[in-house]
Amino acid sequence: MSHNNNPIGVFDSGVGGLSVFRQILTDLPGEMLLYMADSGCAPYGNKSADFVVQRSFTITEFLLEQGAKAVVVACNTATAASIAQLRARFDIPIIGIEPALKPAVAETRSGVVGILATSNTVRSDKFAALLDRHSEHTRVLVQPCPGLADCVERGELSGLRPRFLLERYLEPLLAHGADTLVLGCTHYPFLIPLIQRLTGPGVAILDPSPAVAQQLRRQLELGELLAESGAPGGERYFTSGQPEQTLPVVSRLLGYPLTLEVLPEPYRPG
Ligand code: DGL
Repeated sequence: MSHNNNPIGVFDSGVGGLSVFRQILTDLPGEMLLYMADSGCAPYGNKSADFVVQRSFTITEFLLEQGAKAVVVACNTATAASIAQLRARFDIPIIGIEPALKPAVAETRSGVVGILATSNTVRSDKFAALLDRHSEHTRVLVQPCPGLADCVERGELSGLRPRFLLERYLEPLLAHGADTLVLGCTHYPFLIPLIQRLTGPGVAILDPSPAVAQQLRRQLELGELLAESGAPGGERYFTSGQPEQTLPVVSRLLGYPLTLEVLPEPYRPG
């Protein structure tokens, strides 16, 4: 079996995809990983689908220029808008993410599942198809969460603002008996401690990151693209936003200091 030590590219509208990135770091330790936070354009949740598709293309081109052997779209909103077009255009494995509705339906005891996601994700055709596939015997309550990803983008994980928004968004789900919550936006896993405090311990909170890392490994194995065993791995971070604003948030979310590089000019938002 052959190997490939080229990097894996991971991107999101901002810092949220780090919830997926840290899982990949843990599960595939020999891989060189590139993280691209499109913070100059965040949030994607209220942009047009065309805009999100354009940014997804531009960022994938940048990651390919860095030698990426695979790309992880660590963003539900970008996956819903652009994954089919990305796969049609680029000839490398492209791994997306979608709300973990299937395991939630398998796990719920009350028969009521709540999904938190961005407005764009819940409006997408891909999301409608997901609901169709999995909501036959389960009541699925869909809650768009404007403003919530922005809190994480600013590094606000426990203050008044995220608490106020979450109380509002969780109330109808809990009132209708949801006992399982699907986090349909990669920013939200960073809010799990606050969400769990508000729901109490009886509600399960599902994060799809482990399934994405597993799917990535499977694709790399299939294409004989895994790094050699014993390869040192490594990390590089890029942003299209203001590094002095994004850097402290990225370091805080990952829990260690790092260097953040600025996305080169041709790939920056117009
Ligand atoms: N993290 C993103 C997602 O998974 C998008 C958040 C946003 O930019 O609105 O949907």
